[in-house]
Amino acid sequence: MSDTTDRHGRQAAVRSGPRLALVLVAAATLVAGVSIFAFTPTASAGTTLGASAAEKGRYFGTAVAANKLSDTTYVGILNREFNSVTAENEMKWDATEPSQGNFTYANADRIVNSARANGQQVRGHALAWHSQQPGWAQNMSGTALRNAMLNHVTQVATYYRGKISAWDVVNEAFADGGNGARRDSNLQRTGNDWIEAAFRAARAADPGAKLCYNDYNTDGQNAKSNAVYAMVQDFKARGVPIDCVGFQSHFNSQSPVPNDYQANLQRFVNLGVDVQITELDIEGSGTTQANSFGRVVTACLAISRCTGITVWGIRDTDSWRASGTPLLFDGSGNKKAAYTSTLNALNAGGNPVTTPPTPPTTAPPTTPPGTPPPTTAPPTTPPPGGAGCSATLSNNSWTGGFVTTIRVTAGSAGTNGWTVTVTLPAGSAITNAWNTTRSGNTGSVQLTNVAYNGRLTAGQVTEVGFQGTGTAPSGTPTCSAS
Ligand code: G3I
Repeated sequence: MSDTTDRHGRQAAVRSGPRLALVLVAAATLVAGVSIFAFTPTASAGTTLGASAAEKGRYFGTAVAANKLSDTTYVGILNREFNSVTAENEMKWDATEPSQGNFTYANADRIVNSARANGQQVRGHALAWHSQQPGWAQNMSGTALRNAMLNHVTQVATYYRGKISAWDVVNEAFADGGNGARRDSNLQRTGNDWIEAAFRAARAADPGAKLCYNDYNTDGQNAKSNAVYAMVQDFKARGVPIDCVGFQSHFNSQSPVPNDYQANLQRFVNLGVDVQITELDIEGSGTTQANSFGRVVTACLAISRCTGITVWGIRDTDSWRASGTPLLFDGSGNKKAAYTSTLNALNAGGNPVTTPPTPPTTAPPTTPPGTPPPTTAPPTTPPPGGAGCSATLSNNSWTGGFVTTIRVTAGSAGTNGWTVTVTLPAGSAITNAWNTTRSGNTGSVQLTNVAYNGRLTAGQVTEVGFQGTGTAPSGTPTCSAS
């Protein structure tokens, strides 16, 4: 959203049914007053936001500004705490195509290169938006604007193909207010199908990236979120490629965390998409703010397809609304109570992710733009039991290429580390992998845990992946635990 007056925070009467564990957590909160601080971390509790989220198969990210990458305090926190980043402004249309057909990626590349060097995935933000358009696009309309937008989507998504876990393909296309209408904009005036056209162009340009619709004031059930819901339902029914919905989650006292936050996320998941918290910040301080952060994290972790959370900046002073002190670190980089409640909520709980993002994190794939969207095959076999570990694989395949997700499940003894062996068909080769260290790229390939996903408790699941050329592997990988 462009300013705080945009938020209306409408809420509906529907409440979620919290799981037993969350009821116990809530009860503890009431008893302790500041429940979130009373959680006892488990033996495998993560000590940073990213590590803890990864233990649950999720990411915990932050918006990053390229001009702060020379600030050592900022970078220290960034690379210690977060395993996903979003460019706060550097991938927007005005930044990446300042004059028509002239693409500039220097600042966005600084963020992407920093992330890749530090093992962080990258959310792309945002390909098509009514705001932060370059002047030349603001002055266009009709077919010329539609074609310029589609070319922009294609060029930027192609440039970053293989490096983006999820794209905010279209941002903030619905109006505030009670009628659930589309927002009036130059893009909307090119025709109501501009959103699906953007999604199709993005899929063709980067078949490996999850494609999200992203908006604010959609965090609870209201006229605006109902309209987005209807659009997603329609897209799924007609095969328009959409994988995820982003809930920005900018909160303050006028627009608090809705009581039906979890229920609202869940109804979108029930349409067959992932959900992500994409721009979380909560104005306030102390215990009230801390408990609100805890509620958001707890809601996400209770939902198996809530795949990650991004806060919209690191320190309060980095925020687009710094006076509201809405973030997890103070201006000096110290952890706030909100940080502690967030980490404790990450460690306390929730359901494992069942359909995590599949972020290629190294070399781009070799498939050309225009490749048909991948299809998802179900896991080929159930995991065997036992004390060590087990693994299954599932594939997104297209002609000449594939993305494989490996799901590692710890046996009854848990793991300190693990190695999965996958056999690739003759002629196939891995081009890049994520969340794992691999040896070899053809034939029998060994995938070993990285620092943050080796230690699993009994039954705990983590997911890694790779992208390749040729035909996808099949069968059941072997898994050995240490
Ligand atoms: O870089 C220029 C600087 O050179 C100039 O001196 C200064 C003067 O105003 O402006 C600077 O650019 C500003 C830019 O942030 C970088 O700080 C822009 O004016 C300002 O408009 C821009 O604000 C960004 C805002 O989006 C624009 O809509 C915020 O940083 C960014 O946090 C915010 O992010 C949005 C999401 O993309 C979408 N959802 C809502 C969210 C919050 O508004």
